[in-house]
Amino acid sequence: MSEPRAGVTEPRTLAPPARRVALVSGVERIGAYSVITALDSSGPHDPRPGQFYMLASEDCWGGSADERPYLPRAFSYARARAEDEGVALSFLLEAIGPGTDRLGQLGPDDRLALVGPLGIGFREPTEGSRPLLVGGGIGAAPLLCLQEELDEAAVLLGFRSAAHAQAAALFSGEPQVATDDGSVGTQALVTELLAAELDVDPGATVFACGPPAMLEAVRALCAERDVPAQLALESGMACGFGACFGCVVPTTDGYVRLCLDGPVLDADRLETALVAGAGH
Ligand SMILES: Cc1cc2nc3c(=O)[nH]c(=O)nc-3n(C[C@H](O)[C@H](O)[C@H](O)COP(=O)(O)OP(=O)(O)OC[C@H]3O[C@@H](n4cnc5c(N)ncnc54)[C@H](O)[C@@H]3O)c2cc1C
Ligand code: FES
Repeated sequence: MSEPRAGVTEPRTLAPPARRVALVSGVERIGAYSVITALDSSGPHDPRPGQFYMLASEDCWGGSADERPYLPRAFSYARARAEDEGVALSFLLEAIGPGTDRLGQLGPDDRLALVGPLGIGFREPTEGSRPLLVGGGIGAAPLLCLQEELDEAAVLLGFRSAAHAQAAALFSGEPQVATDDGSVGTQALVTELLAAELDVDPGATVFACGPPAMLEAVRALCAERDVPAQLALESGMACGFGACFGCVVPTTDGYVRLCLDGPVLDADRLETALVAGAGH
């Protein structure tokens, strides 16, 4: 993994400028989510966990009654597998609106338009610390490829329901699972699992992705215990490569464009208000 500390001076990702097309090779339903896999034959083969792609279907994107979706949508990649013909990229998505609905309708051999990989992903854990991966809902997506890269990382996941919790099966080993309704695992918030883990051994680096309230709770917990944390944030992204300024977020270093300087930021760079306003 790349080692630099988060900061506006950190080298930014240079993505191929052109949008390209990847052929969908598989679509799998996992409870409340879909996993879409597509073969990217002309893009970089080595995206970093936490980086994202701007996705759209090549056909039937826009042009509906209200012309939505119009802009491509941002997705963290969940897995990347090098193949002879390119890299097979998998995305985990939850249908919540016109863009995710349309992407969820893609089937084998359909054409997925993409730009990426974009942004700066997760960095190395702090030396001597154990990695703790904390995901809420669809925030599990970038933790899948991160788990593959880190040896023996503990994984803590929180979901709304049993249908959402099926995504836990995508992880290797035995992730700890919490659900809001107690239908799977512990009836708790994932941050309660995190607090219990840190009680046992505070020598961790936390990697988290999830909804804003969860990220804020992770930030506060880690700050209180002086545990380093890297948070994968969201903000509305229209371009994904620095042109529109739609994704700016305040940090202790001033405003940054999340698509260029994130989406993963060190928790100690964040203003509390930022975390409350970002996320799924
Ligand atoms: C870096 C990044 C990585 C992402 N990775 C994934 C992923 O792996 N899987 C996945 O399913 N989704 C991911 N998302 C979220 C995804 O981009 C949005 O859910 C998607 O754009 C919604 O599009 P839509 O047309 O379906 O719904 P819309 O109609 O555009 O949105 C539906 C609702 O969600 C809200 N919303 C949409 N996008 C955001 C956002 N970025 N922040 C806060 N609220 C928002 C809207 O205000 C609206 O209320 C990611 C977003 C970012 C910025
Ligand atoms: S999404 Fe356009 S500048 Fe970040």
